[in-house]
Amino acid sequence: MPLSVTVVGTGYVGLVTGVCLAHSGHQVTCVDIDQAKVDMLISGKSTIYEPGIEDLLIAGRDKGTLAFKTPESGWRDLIGDVTVVAVGTPMAPNGAADLSQVRTVVEALAAAADRPFTLVMKSTVPMGTGASLRERYLDQADVRIGYISNPEFLREGKALEDWFKTDRIVLGASDEADLVLMRELYDDIEAPLVETDVASAETIKYASNAFLSTKISFINEIANLCDCIGADIDSVSRGIGLDKRIGSQFLNAGIGYGGSCFPKDTRALDFIATLNGYQFTLLKSVIEVNNRQRLLPVVHVMRALPDLHERSVAILGLAFKPDTDDVRESPALDIVPLLAEQGAAIRIYDPIAADIAIPGAARVTDVWRALEGASAAVVVTDWVEFTELDWARVRSVMTGPGIIFDGRNCLDPEAVRSAGLTYMAVGREGQHRDDLA
Ligand code: UDX
Repeated sequence: MPLSVTVVGTGYVGLVTGVCLAHSGHQVTCVDIDQAKVDMLISGKSTIYEPGIEDLLIAGRDKGTLAFKTPESGWRDLIGDVTVVAVGTPMAPNGAADLSQVRTVVEALAAAADRPFTLVMKSTVPMGTGASLRERYLDQADVRIGYISNPEFLREGKALEDWFKTDRIVLGASDEADLVLMRELYDDIEAPLVETDVASAETIKYASNAFLSTKISFINEIANLCDCIGADIDSVSRGIGLDKRIGSQFLNAGIGYGGSCFPKDTRALDFIATLNGYQFTLLKSVIEVNNRQRLLPVVHVMRALPDLHERSVAILGLAFKPDTDDVRESPALDIVPLLAEQGAAIRIYDPIAADIAIPGAARVTDVWRALEGASAAVVVTDWVEFTELDWARVRSVMTGPGIIFDGRNCLDPEAVRSAGLTYMAVGREGQHRDDLA
């Protein structure tokens, strides 16, 4: 049976949630305080870059199952039987999750409610947040407000697939009545339900992202070791990934993870652990390895080109991964200023990444303009466009040793080398030592 659903926050998670629930037939209202965003969504334009989302958005709007509003005239009439909170929990300067937006919304909903509803927390919040929101706001309301922790596991660029074909649905609750409603909400999705208490659901979200980050940092450490001993990380990854207990995903070595989730959530989990008197040594190392990994191209380009102040460097890719325009925590944000500090002239090319200013670098709109006259190019994002480059042409426009630092191990080393370029990557065939020798 269709439910009346309100989704608060039309950021990445909120918009995907609203659009997908409307597609499943629920009556959805997405609420955001930003009038310009709401206007854009009403006009049928997505405010995030996500393949396929605009078609579902327009379909829902035209069918009348999806509406967009601001809370301008108060929250009371906006509250749905199921009200999903999907506002941002950015990283505070101390590494903790900043919960101010979550608290503001929950407080406003609890104060405005004049009939019972179930509040579903999709924002990533630290363990214990559900209990504290209940005590501070929900239990003070005039009506019963149920609480569900329902973390999301959406990858940018694959969010719709991850929504409809999710590996699991996690529901943290303290009351069976709320679970009954949630089963109805996700009626059409075939996936194992993990029904548990609120604190465990909150933990599942952080533990999932921490584990995936650990896998990446682990394979990056092995790749670095491969560089030292002359082994090949591609074979090693394949060799270990075929063990079903390990699994082949998230074993791509490179310059480390970025994005809106892994860096923020690993640091927040470390903070939560410390705050609770526990030193999460493994997680601290995962973070440290990732911070160091993104400096690899800087180290190797500087070592190969001591006269960097007379050279120009192309940065290929600015997004934290392909198929997104998101640049949050992209390795490029650390790599570019360090190379600029050495006096290199830097040109950045990315097919769609958000246009942000990085001091010391110019953004160009064509890959060839970035490569023209460059002595080195660093592949930061594994866009298909870069894997399909005409390497003979690349050699003809680049100068000097024509260093290609493949920060994502995504290029064909033979194709690059046979064009007369100098190929460097992370743990592939021990080439750092050979190339630098
Ligand atoms: C992630 C989680 O996958 C998702 O479940 C969660 O809810 C939100 O965070 P996302 O940030 O969109 O999703 O990106 P993801 O595809 O997981 O990649 C994260 C980063 O890890 C990227 O920078 C990617 O380049 C890097 N990565 C990924 C590697 O370096 N190696 C790998 O093997 C996999």
